Amino acid sequence: MRKFVLTLLCALSLSSLSAQGYVPSEEVRKSQQEFAEDRFGIFIHWGIYSMFAQGEWYMQNAQGINRDEYAKAADAFYPHRFNAAEWVSAIKASGAKYICFTTRHHDSFSMWDTAESEYNIVDATPFQRDVLKELAEECHKQGIALHLYYSHADWYRDDYPRGRTGWGVAGRDRTQISWDSYFSFMNNQITELLTNYGPIRAMWFDGWWDHDEDATPFDWHLDEQYALVHKLQPSCMVANNHHQTPFEGEDIQIFERDLPGENTHGLSGQDISRLPLETCQTMNGMWGYKVVDQNYKSTETLIRYLVSTASKGANLLLNVGPQPNGALPAVAVERMQEMGEWMKVNGESVYGTTAGDIPQQDWGCTTRKGDRLFVHIFELDYDMLYLPLECKVVSAKALEDGKPISFQRVKGGVLLEVGKVQDKADYVVELETR
Ligand code: GLC
Repeated sequence: MRKFVLTLLCALSLSSLSAQGYVPSEEVRKSQQEFAEDRFGIFIHWGIYSMFAQGEWYMQNAQGINRDEYAKAADAFYPHRFNAAEWVSAIKASGAKYICFTTRHHDSFSMWDTAESEYNIVDATPFQRDVLKELAEECHKQGIALHLYYSHADWYRDDYPRGRTGWGVAGRDRTQISWDSYFSFMNNQITELLTNYGPIRAMWFDGWWDHDEDATPFDWHLDEQYALVHKLQPSCMVANNHHQTPFEGEDIQIFERDLPGENTHGLSGQDISRLPLETCQTMNGMWGYKVVDQNYKSTETLIRYLVSTASKGANLLLNVGPQPNGALPAVAVERMQEMGEWMKVNGESVYGTTAGDIPQQDWGCTTRKGDRLFVHIFELDYDMLYLPLECKVVSAKALEDGKPISFQRVKGGVLLEVGKVQDKADYVVELETR
């Protein structure tokens, strides 16, 4: 009897182990750590949709576009200003440590030389260059990590089981829907991406929401796909922009257009997990190039957004939508340059930090690195700043020039004598604490 109970207990604990399931490998954990230290990446949304200059959702939003008419844009796509070295240099100048590139968006067009569909940048355009290859080589040369965005949703292919979106697109043959065919197409493409382009630090999926739990029951077979990613490149992390609490097999948690814990866009009510976090955000209003969208956030706003993201223990993935000619918009390049200038002086208070001791306030926010607490001051109406702190402050100085800042210990914290802080995106005071 005792033996039977032991065997049963053993079997139970084994099954609960397997139910617990996914444990990231050592390689993935290393990538997660690197990723969390980076704190800042640049997102690139680029595809033939840039030709219409109406953002990456144009194929669906225009309502009634025939997919074969849309596809004609490929035949005129000749982005002669595309220069991977220039892109990577401009991105690095911002202080960003990684790039996430859209390899295939919901319009189905592949931005690399894929054997799985002729609808790609090499076979379907007069440009005939594998832009992903050029970008990947340049990233590896200039030492910046590369992540790949890959859409699960598809508005073009006949075999894709149609979900919530894509109904505005005409010309698809519904009799050809086949999950098996679509799933193997995606997995073959993912295999190409993770075989032919060197080290890829993350696969960034998007489009799960096209068949979410409120729609018809649908199984994306994500476990199988995630296992494939981890098998092909053991250090490659899996991310999925499904707007849910992370699923088994995922290594990063993504938030779209909101900081973790905030939900102004209605996409981010989900719980915050213990995975490394990333918020993706647009620099203007749309992800893909849109001709009327010149509403760029100011450099000051962008720096504050980056710092606020870090203060929540998350990374910022800031988007740039290249033009149809392949150049990055001049305003985006300028913003990146200016962010980089601030990061050169103050990067210490962002890279490798964790959330600070004091949550976001009207005056700014905090980040921490070991025993150093960085106080990010955005706006201050007074000369003094009271910080409620449990730790003991040993010294205080301005990060930009090392100027000592006087402080007094008061009940429940310290009073910093900051003086006048004017015209600064973020004035950082570094506190040594115990
Ligand atoms: C959304 C959109 C998409 C964009 C992405 C970026 O899911 O569908 O166009 O690529 O968010 O976060």
